[in-house]
Amino acid sequence: MAKKMWAGRFEKATDKEVNDYNSSLPFDCKMYSQDIEGSIAHSQMLAKQGVISSEDAEAIKTGLLSIKDDIESGKLTFDSDAEDIHMFIEEELTNRIGDAGKRLHTGRSRNDQVALDQRLFMVDEADEIVELLDTLVDTLIDIAKDNLTTYMPGYTHLQRAQPITYAHYLTAYIEMFRRDVDRLNAAKDRANVSPLGSGALAGTTYPLDREAVAEDLGMNGVTLCSLDGVADRDFAIEFASACSILMMHLSRLSEEIILYASQEFKFYELDDAYSTGSSMMPQKKNPDVAELTRGKTGRVYGDLISLLVIMKGLPLTYNKDMQEVQEAMFDCIETIKAVLPPFTGMMKTMTIRKDRMEAAALEGFTNATDLADYLVKKGLPFRETHAISGKLVHYCIENNTSLEKLPLETLKEFSPAFEEDVYDAISLKTCVEGRSLIGGPAPETVKRYLDSI
Ligand code: ARG
Repeated sequence: MAKKMWAGRFEKATDKEVNDYNSSLPFDCKMYSQDIEGSIAHSQMLAKQGVISSEDAEAIKTGLLSIKDDIESGKLTFDSDAEDIHMFIEEELTNRIGDAGKRLHTGRSRNDQVALDQRLFMVDEADEIVELLDTLVDTLIDIAKDNLTTYMPGYTHLQRAQPITYAHYLTAYIEMFRRDVDRLNAAKDRANVSPLGSGALAGTTYPLDREAVAEDLGMNGVTLCSLDGVADRDFAIEFASACSILMMHLSRLSEEIILYASQEFKFYELDDAYSTGSSMMPQKKNPDVAELTRGKTGRVYGDLISLLVIMKGLPLTYNKDMQEVQEAMFDCIETIKAVLPPFTGMMKTMTIRKDRMEAAALEGFTNATDLADYLVKKGLPFRETHAISGKLVHYCIENNTSLEKLPLETLKEFSPAFEEDVYDAISLKTCVEGRSLIGGPAPETVKRYLDSI
């Protein structure tokens, strides 16, 4: 085993088992590019500040870029017994360029280095996730625009409640996902500050230009307390929490896809390419993409809980426990990136059974509120009209019919205020079009909303 860079005060080499147990290289190798980017910015600044020579800084830069190329081309693999990606790259650099490589770590600790790498990694990934989520939102907007007058029942308690449109239904998820985009961007912006210069915990006596490094890395600024800079991982927790809320929304939509694709609802016909069969039952067509999304939600929540529990009660500042943050953060990111593309594909390709949606909206007395409101417009108090409408619903259930099918004479038996215009007042079209306040299902309102976002 290669001698550790920190082995000066040790008499014995690290036990092989301990070395493997301690090593984060198998997973933190994901951050090689951020590690190299950070090291280049740090060494360029060291040269500008006169801490190292500009020849050394150039040799470091060239060496680091050649390491990056070799990693990307597969020439350089991570099969070393290095303790982590930071040691791996630094050792490799020194092997390649000699003494200049040994000057790279001046005024830096792996504690501020790893915090930087994780922040940079998260910022890059957040951009990718937001892009994937934007694609989903755009897809939902397109579907909504095609379904401004596709009537369906809206539910409370999973019981038919009032008529809405499919466009209006999708708008709910569009709003949720747009807030998710905001949350992810906000988490990203807060994470996007540089902890470099925090050193191991107490800063450093070298005249570092922390702001210049941050600017060079395209970050918004620097962390303002060296202890906090190396000790906190709230940026990862905040990001995982935004991801968890996103997954919660996706899982609710998934649940409805599963329900709506069932024989009982038949609102949706999933595309063959986005469903799966059964190895035993020849007739089956299963909504695996939606189910797996619902399942992956538990996994992302698990990542968030892991992060919270890893960080709970840790004394300031850096503790090795924090190395565990990385895998939870990576898993959360990879899971979301795996979920979004097939989910969007499923939404894009499925067929909407407008006939089934509209038939369901016509059943279940979803116009009972409008019937009560009709009588209010004729001058009766709402509490009375609610009772009249309720009695009519009861009558319809007993006689196996629906409100709009009742003859005027029957309606008049329940209230003399009913007139011929009641049928128009309780039609699906009127029920939906009448709800034109901001946020309502009226096609004009939903269209205005869709055009405005
Ligand atoms: N691999 C370590 C981690 O991810 C890097 C920091 C090591 N710092 C230390 N003081 N041992 O947390």
